[in-house]
Amino acid sequence: MRDDLLLRLLDAGVVLAVAVAGLWAWRRWHYRSFWLVVGYPLMAVSVRATWRKIALGCGLTKKRHRWWFTLVPNAVASTGMVKVRRRFQRIAVDTKPWMWLPRPTRYGWRVTVHLLEGQIPDDYAQAAERLAHSWRVHAVRVSSPRPGRVVLAATMRDPLVRVDEIPPSSELLKVTVGRLETGKPWEIDFRTVPHWLNAGATQSGKSNLANALIVGLSPQPVALVGFDLKGGVEFTPYASRLSALATSRTECVGLLDDLVGLMADRMGLCRQAGARNIWQLPPGVRPVPVVVLVDELAELYLMADKSEKDEIAKTSTALLRVAQLGRAFGIYLFCCGQRIGSDLGPGVTALRAQCSGRICHRVNDPETATMTLGDLDPAALVSACAIPAETPGVAIVASQDGQWYRARSFYVSEHAAEHAARMYADLTPPWEEITSGTRGAEITDADLNELLDA
Ligand SMILES: Nc1ncnc2c1ncn2[C@@H]1O[C@H](COP(=O)(O)OP(=O)(O)OP(=O)(O)O)[C@@H](O)[C@H]1O
Ligand SMILES: [Mg+2]
Repeated sequence: MRDDLLLRLLDAGVVLAVAVAGLWAWRRWHYRSFWLVVGYPLMAVSVRATWRKIALGCGLTKKRHRWWFTLVPNAVASTGMVKVRRRFQRIAVDTKPWMWLPRPTRYGWRVTVHLLEGQIPDDYAQAAERLAHSWRVHAVRVSSPRPGRVVLAATMRDPLVRVDEIPPSSELLKVTVGRLETGKPWEIDFRTVPHWLNAGATQSGKSNLANALIVGLSPQPVALVGFDLKGGVEFTPYASRLSALATSRTECVGLLDDLVGLMADRMGLCRQAGARNIWQLPPGVRPVPVVVLVDELAELYLMADKSEKDEIAKTSTALLRVAQLGRAFGIYLFCCGQRIGSDLGPGVTALRAQCSGRICHRVNDPETATMTLGDLDPAALVSACAIPAETPGVAIVASQDGQWYRARSFYVSEHAAEHAARMYADLTPPWEEITSGTRGAEITDADLNELLDA
């Protein structure tokens, strides 16, 4: 009899062990299906069941008057004990915000919550970290799709630890460079956001992102131009796909002069055709778009000795002109740098104001994050400073929709970028051809005012 029981227990133990091992293997090898079938239903029940307690703990409840059964003191008995009795009366109780059923997402779940009277989405954004800890998830992000509602999106684990490749974009001037933490592609689209600042500490992944752009833009009918004052170490290997490359200050001044001349020429072309920008010109006469990649922006503004002062002033003005007018004439900027602070001079501050695309990789100090991301949500600045050194390529991205996202670029080695540059070398438009006819064309102050007002 005892042996029989022991055998049965042993059997049950083996079955349990196999089931646990099976679940572990399922979770390990196909997390997405495991999450949908096992993880998500358990989590949805637990989130709904604990919402009242968690909302109370995170300060998201409001006092409201409700009819409620309460215990109230009644008579004092002869023993000295106070007797209590139940009474149905109106009292102030903590009310939780109404929550819909959580829906599964690629990396976690999202749920819509109705705001209580007097609440704003920022109250939830402030409580996001508390919510994340209470739910034991990696992070909670808050958005508000319409008045009176907030959507809480929870990610179970950091989706940016490993990012897998997605197919490249086929649209002109749009490059898929990585993945957002929401699982969507991270796209740099120069036609929507023409100029970008890409900042971060050393080894944070700035050049990797530039490599991703080289790989994405090389097969497209665009001209690429490089400014590399690190002596050309970064961009020289891609020279075969670059229409022009400047590696010294004198070359920079010359190339920027060319670019300003090019803009003046394109302005004349648009004027003649009655177009406001090159995209309104017929495809046959439309000039080729130019993407300007600048590595280590600070080098353009740093002065070794006084003799460089004039050159720096010229560089700074020309770069600013390109940023101000480039959009209309198909000239786009992508500026990388460790420092882009106002200590580099007023030119940098003005340039920063023209770059609406902002990418902030890991930074060592909150000031750099603030300078890169501007007065974005303070949570974005905290997130930028919290990027660990072990995950190069992770960045905070701010773009035109006013939202910010954590994202990670795909790993693109120098070798891969060099290979792409060589493979598409025959698509490189020669610089002489692009700039032919620009001689003598100049942008007058009147032109500038007209264009800046437009
Ligand atoms: N998305 C990524 N995934 C994996 N590894 C990456 C990623 N981005 C960058 N790295 C690795 O991190 C290291 C530093 O990257 P990168 O050279 O782009 O940094 P950087 O910011 O340009 O540094 P520096 O300021 O010194 O030029 C490289 O060895 C690269 O392989
Ligand atoms: Mg670099």
